[in-house]
Amino acid sequence: MQLVSSLEQLRQQVKQWRQHGLMIGFVPTMGNLHAGHLSLVEKAKQYADKVIVSIFVNPLQFNEQSDLDAYPRTQEKDAAQLVETACDIVFMPDAKTVYPEGMAKQSKIIVSEIGDRLCGAHRPGHFDGVATVVTKLFNMVMPDIAVFGEKDYQQLLLIKKLVDDLNMPIKIIGSQTHREQNGLAMSSRNQYLSEAEKTTAGEIYHTLVDIKHSLENGRNDFTTLCEQAKQNIEQKGFDIDYIEICREIDLMPAQSSDKVLRILMAAQLGPARLIDNVTCHLA
Ligand code: PAJ
Repeated sequence: MQLVSSLEQLRQQVKQWRQHGLMIGFVPTMGNLHAGHLSLVEKAKQYADKVIVSIFVNPLQFNEQSDLDAYPRTQEKDAAQLVETACDIVFMPDAKTVYPEGMAKQSKIIVSEIGDRLCGAHRPGHFDGVATVVTKLFNMVMPDIAVFGEKDYQQLLLIKKLVDDLNMPIKIIGSQTHREQNGLAMSSRNQYLSEAEKTTAGEIYHTLVDIKHSLENGRNDFTTLCEQAKQNIEQKGFDIDYIEICREIDLMPAQSSDKVLRILMAAQLGPARLIDNVTCHLA
């Protein structure tokens, strides 16, 4: 596995692989890797001959400087974990490589509609920052396929739309959420939580699964269902940004006739903002 921080070096290696007709897979990350991230690498390897993982804490997608400053940076530990996987290159550009003119002068990519709701409504500009950096990373790596986690389901749909809207020849593959034993979705932000908070945080998944079971049992009063869930979970110490039942295909609010749904939640628990979602296919 090669550690690469120069764009030149990355391009040279990718060019060589392409000349040999090899398929390139890509997994963009912000580091502080956990088993969820590593599963994306293995997924990419199922579709590609070579796998590139990027680690870049993207300042453009953070709403608050304090959140950016606190974001865990663990590059040596990350590289040590990636050696054990199918990763061929870890690309770790610095901010100057990604934003040579600084962020203010950077042209932005805005993906219409999908980024405005749910997390987009609570984190203004966040998805523009994600779309912009992912476009730049795609142009640097030029992969054939790229893998994104369903844990960030809105982000996954946004990237699929970005690639479609801008005619990028990249296949986007979604990969299932890795969880702790109590159901808590693995996340770099979980390390902000105390052990007691981690136990409590498992309630997010259980709440989503309870809603799913209610839907499967025929309830279709979506607003009431989400409001009741919100009241229950708030008693456990969560501050809820949203709990919503959406159409899986485009994350628009679900109608009672819709059959393929995603139930999504974002909540603050102590120092961490946590997000999760589950799928629900009705008969
Ligand atoms: P980051 O939060 O580091 O996540 C990198 C990738 O790992 C994303 O595709 C995310 O959905 C996936 N992931 C995170 N937790 C997961 C879990 N528990 N199970 C499976 N996959 C999981 O998402 C970002 O970084 C950034 O926004 C990025 C796309 C890199 C752009 O900066």
